Amino acid sequence: MNRDNFGKILPFNMTSASGGGKIIAVTSGKGGVGKTNISANIALTWAGEGYRVLAVDCDLGLANMDLILGVIPQFTLKDVLLNDLPVTEAITHTAMGVDLLPAAAGEEDLANLHPDKQLSFAQLLKGLRGMYDYIILDTGAGVHSNVTHIAALADYVLIVTTVEPTALSSAYAMIKILGNEKQPKTIGVVLNMASSGREGLSAWQALTSLTRRFLGTEPEYLGHIYQDSAVPKAVQKTYPLVKIYPRSPSARCIQATAAKIRSAVNKIKTQWTRTPGDSTTGSEVIRWS
Ligand SMILES: Nc1ncnc2c1ncn2[C@@H]1O[C@H](COP(=O)(O)OP(=O)(O)O)[C@@H](O)[C@H]1O
Ligand SMILES: [Mg+2]
Repeated sequence: MNRDNFGKILPFNMTSASGGGKIIAVTSGKGGVGKTNISANIALTWAGEGYRVLAVDCDLGLANMDLILGVIPQFTLKDVLLNDLPVTEAITHTAMGVDLLPAAAGEEDLANLHPDKQLSFAQLLKGLRGMYDYIILDTGAGVHSNVTHIAALADYVLIVTTVEPTALSSAYAMIKILGNEKQPKTIGVVLNMASSGREGLSAWQALTSLTRRFLGTEPEYLGHIYQDSAVPKAVQKTYPLVKIYPRSPSARCIQATAAKIRSAVNKIKTQWTRTPGDSTTGSEVIRWS
């Protein structure tokens, strides 16, 4: 990507592409539930359909999207946010059609950055919206690392959980926290590592009966993803699942989930308005109505 082009595009040209420049945050209450694998493979699925997709690794603590996508990044989000590197220089074009804005592992979580840097990140994303059809944010686990401000930047929040009670209860906590935001998001839930559709559905029913009863809300159910040895095998080979095992049970489920999210996201109307104090000439400020 050319830096000059980006310079022109960033503040002024906010027109969305066919997908509407939509931002999807992938999060969870509990760690290790499959967020990064799912984010990367959803991104690849959309890219394979011809959409312009950017994957952003927002988990500066346990960044590993580069490994899943099989790239070795030279620069990361940290260089952009802390060392003023132009974002275009940190974006890596992968051979598989997805662009990646990587993070460096072992750094503080993006969510714990100084508020100024959080604002810079929000501004950065706004600019990138005009350049992509879909931007997928792979976050850290939510409840403990305060990723809600990242989720607040998204049009749609995908919560990943497994059928384990600990994962389900932290998914519930995450839904509750997101519901308390000033501008509640459209939330979808996917049940990862399920042994069957029935197991996924019954875990979903347990979760949603609680959210209906205590939070008065019911997120969208995006279905299950099978527990599948193809997932760790692909990770081992540092080659993405949907590329190396596209017909595996888990890859098929991820592709189905990707289609459901796209359809849900495309229904969300994002209204661009300016808010007082926004100094970026001609840029949009996100306000959902
Ligand atoms: N559907 C699945 N079947 C089997 N293993 C999975 C599945 N999804 C994820 N895993 C494994 O779970 C581990 C955590 O996945 P990861 O995507 O890194 O989770 P997170 O980003 O939520 O921490 C990895 O070892 C991955 O291979
Ligand atoms: Mg992860």
